Amino acid sequence: MLAINKSDTTFLYRQVIDLISENIETGTLGPGDRLPSLRKMSQSAGVSVPTVRQAYIELERQRRIESRPQSGFYVRHAQCNDLVHPAPSSAGEPVCLNCRPLMERVYDGINHPDLVPLGIANPCMARPAAKALHRAMKRVMSRAEERSLGYATTLGEATLRRQIAYHYLDTVGAQVEPEHIAITNGGQEALLLSLQAVASAGDVIAVETPTYHGLLELIDALGMLAVEVETCPEEGVTLCELRRTLELYPVKACMFSTTLSNPLGVTMPECDRRKLVAMLEEFDTVLIEDDVYGDLRFDGIRPIPAQFLSKTARIITCGSFSKTAAPGYRIGWLVTDHFMKQITRLKRAYSCSSGLLQQLTLADFLASGNYTRHLKALRPVLKRNAERMSAMVAEHFPAETRTSKPVGGSVLWLELPGNVDTEELFDASISADISIAPGQIFSPSNRYKNFLRLSFGHPWSERTESAIRWLGNRVTEIH
Ligand SMILES: Cc1ncc(COP(=O)(O)O)c(C=O)c1O
Repeated sequence: MLAINKSDTTFLYRQVIDLISENIETGTLGPGDRLPSLRKMSQSAGVSVPTVRQAYIELERQRRIESRPQSGFYVRHAQCNDLVHPAPSSAGEPVCLNCRPLMERVYDGINHPDLVPLGIANPCMARPAAKALHRAMKRVMSRAEERSLGYATTLGEATLRRQIAYHYLDTVGAQVEPEHIAITNGGQEALLLSLQAVASAGDVIAVETPTYHGLLELIDALGMLAVEVETCPEEGVTLCELRRTLELYPVKACMFSTTLSNPLGVTMPECDRRKLVAMLEEFDTVLIEDDVYGDLRFDGIRPIPAQFLSKTARIITCGSFSKTAAPGYRIGWLVTDHFMKQITRLKRAYSCSSGLLQQLTLADFLASGNYTRHLKALRPVLKRNAERMSAMVAEHFPAETRTSKPVGGSVLWLELPGNVDTEELFDASISADISIAPGQIFSPSNRYKNFLRLSFGHPWSERTESAIRWLGNRVTEIH
C-alpha cells in the first residue's frame, strides 16, 4: 500500500512514479488503461501539476506508459521483443557485492574451452584478425627484434599512444595529447588504475544498472561500495536519478559506459553526455568512462566520449583492444590529463609496464590501416549475428521474453518470464556444454534474477543454433 507522504525524504515525483508503478504491477492499471489526468492526479495525490508531469515523463522514458496526443497518458501494452526494464521502487543504496560465489562459477564456466561460448563478450572473435596481426608481429620482430623483448616505458610505447591519439582524431575529431594516454594491461587495468587514482576503500562509486560484472568485482576487491543508478534501455543512465543519487550519497566517482554499455548495449545521446558532464562538475565528482566498445557500433559511427566535451570536468576514459582486436594481448589504455601523476605512480607500482611486443604489433596494425579495415569487416559480421540471434530467440523462447535491440557490440540482454531463475539455468546449461551469463552478476544487489546475457561474438555455427534452441526449450519447460 502506497500513498504520497510529504514528510518522506523521497522526492515527490519519485513517490508518484512508485504509486503508478505499484498500480500497474498489481493490475489495478492494466495495459491500455488511461492514467488520471495531470490535474486530477495532482488533486488526489496533493502534489503540484509539474510534479505529476515530471513523474509521467519519467514513466514514459521507462516505457511503462505512453502519451497520446490530445488524449492523455496510457499504460503501455508490453510488446514482444521490446525490453521492459524493471522499474525501481526506490533509488539504490550503496552496497557490497552480493553475488561473489555465482560470479566465480560463471568465470569457471565461461573460460572452459569446450563450451558453446554464449557467456563471454568477445566481439572480435566473430571475425578474428589473426592473419593481419600475425603479419604485423612478424614485421615488428624483423624491424626491432631485440628491442621488442625489453621493457616498455611505464606509460607505454610512444608509437602506440600516437596511433591511439590519431584514432580519436580520425573517428570523433578530437585532439588528444599522446602524453595524456597511458597504456594498460587491458581495459580492466585501466579501470583499476582509474578507480585507485580517485577513490579509496569505503568510498561510494555510482554504477549503471545493470552493469559490467568485472567492474563490480573491481569495486568489491578494492573495498569500495557500489550504488546503482537506474539506466534506461534507450538513453543510458537516467540523469534525474543520478542527480538524486549524488544528492543523497557522497559519490567519489561514477563509472559509466557511455557507448554500447554491457549488458544493455545502450548509448547515451550526446546532449545527455553534455548534461552528465555538467552535473558531475556541479557535484565535483569524477567520471570514469568505460569506452571499450566505442568502435563497435554496427553503423560505424563512433560517438564522442564525454572526455572531449569538457576541458574542466575530471574524466578518465578507458579503452581497450580486447573487444576489437585481441583480448589475449591484454592491451588497453586510459585518457586523462587530470590524474596522470597518480596513474603513473600506480601503474609503475602494480605492473611496471605492459607487454612491449603486443604494443608494437598493435601500433603497426593501426598505422598500416589494417585496424580500420578489420573493423569495417567485423561490424557487419556482428550485425548479422545479432539479427540471427534475435530471430532465434523470438522463435524459440516463450512469447513473454523481451530482448534488447543491439546496435553494436556482441551481446543480447534478455528478460525472461518472472519465474525463471537464470542461476539455475546457468547450472543446467553448463551440463549441456553451453555457457551463458546469468542476470544476477550484473548487479551488486542481486537484481535481474530472470535476466540473461547471451553473446553473439563468435563465428556463427550449427552449434550456436542448437545451443539457442536448447536454451529456448529449457526456459519454456521451466516457465
Ligand atoms: C564493459 C567492459 N569494460 C571493460 C572490460 C575489460 O576489458 P579487457 O578485456 O580489455 O580487460 C570488459 C570486458 O568484458 C567490458 O565488457
